[in-house]
Amino acid sequence: MTPSDASTGYTDADASSGLFHLNTLPAVQEVLAAVEDTCLAPEWPRLAGSRIEQMASNDLLFSGGSAPRDVWAVSGLGATVDASVVATGEPLSLIDLCSMTANTILGINDPWVKLKQAAYLLSDRPHYLTARIGADLPYRVARRILHCFDEFGGPGEFVVNLRQCNGSDAVELALHAAWNAAAPTPGRDKLATFRGSYHGENLTANWVSEHQPGGLLADGPDNVVFFPTPRTDDTGRLTAATEATLEALDQAGADYFAVIIEPVQWRNSVHVIPFEFLHRLRDICTRHAICLIFDEMQNAFGYTGTITFAQTSGICPDIAAISKAITSGHGPLAVMVARRAYREISGPFGAKSNSGNMLPLVAADAVLDRLLGMSPAEHQALPGWVPPGLTEELRTGVLTSAYPRSVALLDGLLGELRQRFGSLVGEPRGLGLIRGLVLCEADGGPSVRLAAAAAKVCLRYGVYVRQADTAVLVKPSLFLSESEIGAALDALSRTFQEVLRIRDE
Ligand SMILES: Cc1ncc(COP(=O)(O)O)c(C=O)c1O
Repeated sequence: MTPSDASTGYTDADASSGLFHLNTLPAVQEVLAAVEDTCLAPEWPRLAGSRIEQMASNDLLFSGGSAPRDVWAVSGLGATVDASVVATGEPLSLIDLCSMTANTILGINDPWVKLKQAAYLLSDRPHYLTARIGADLPYRVARRILHCFDEFGGPGEFVVNLRQCNGSDAVELALHAAWNAAAPTPGRDKLATFRGSYHGENLTANWVSEHQPGGLLADGPDNVVFFPTPRTDDTGRLTAATEATLEALDQAGADYFAVIIEPVQWRNSVHVIPFEFLHRLRDICTRHAICLIFDEMQNAFGYTGTITFAQTSGICPDIAAISKAITSGHGPLAVMVARRAYREISGPFGAKSNSGNMLPLVAADAVLDRLLGMSPAEHQALPGWVPPGLTEELRTGVLTSAYPRSVALLDGLLGELRQRFGSLVGEPRGLGLIRGLVLCEADGGPSVRLAAAAAKVCLRYGVYVRQADTAVLVKPSLFLSESEIGAALDALSRTFQEVLRIRDE
């Protein structure tokens, strides 16, 4: 980097963007200089043997589902990951259109989240707290999250649990809270869920999801009722099956303690639940005192332009289960936001071991700064060496600026791919930054096989997408530049050309 300003050390180009590598800041370079050539340098620990040799030990080291594959990442910023192909050593600039699966809403290496975590780590603040001991940060994060529900209830209407580690935990806790609240009414013991759903990998989440292998220890309980995926027909009206679901729930409302639903069923080829259905479901749940649970693992914290789906849709659940993007990949954290009526939790639920780690809470606080902006007083207190681009983004939050820009870029990308590959690619699906492209066989039928093929070959061409049943999932971080979209278009076009060859050979 060529410093254009002796006091800050960043160039005009760096300064205009809120995305930059922390090690370009002089204040950080001083700390890094102190560890250079020691075992604390970030390049350590060094491994004996080449990357090919490391990969050859996959079978010895890792269980299924966790073995690293043939692409090796060394660095990255925003939606671009600097990687290499292990077999050839060839460098690979990878456009990450899946926010690394862990849902890095801010992309890789967000400077603000890392800076806040680094500052916290360098202090003598506690890094871990048991649920019995208090500190400032949980109160601050709780208030900030609850503030996002202000428009849906008076003061004290909602409470939050901050002590879950992952999405499956938050789903289980939400179901427990709803079950607990229904305990005084013994007949109210059914749970409604939907075909096409995925709620996580623990046993409870397994029982209430369609997309699960299931069958661990016991078959699912007989009080979980699977309804058809809510849909509209070609004219935009709710289908007969969807109307029948609403009718059935209305008729038997007193039997149900909860309904759990994902607003966007990503594993179901990225299907958006019709808002009209959610509105009417909300009404039924209110009239029959059924707990309405939104599983917001995939959408919350930015992917549909808001922190919660209640803000996106105007429909507020009784419990929102939230995880993933809340830390943008900087540590595990899941939360449950619940109406006060669902506040009671029986032990041992509600406080997972390892959930008291402060770094994910620091990350959640920083992600909120990033998405919504800081308070004016805090913003005033930013150090002078924070580059102007980041300073400006922290003033307003990027949900009002970067989000609409990225959604427009994504619309353009998906539209262009549809133009180029009309016989392969169906109408784009999804909402906001959670999108999907259904891949079709030559006869026009949606194809799991081709979506799987695309997800398999994409890395080789420099783009990362996942399979979502018959669709490829496209769910980028909200920092997406025009040049990254251009590179993604190129890489996806080459991917789809190969998929076409597979289809038509
Ligand atoms: C909608 C939904 N719910 C729950 C989960 C489970 O989250 P976790 O993998 O963090 O347990 C996932 C994970 O992908 C998800 O997509």
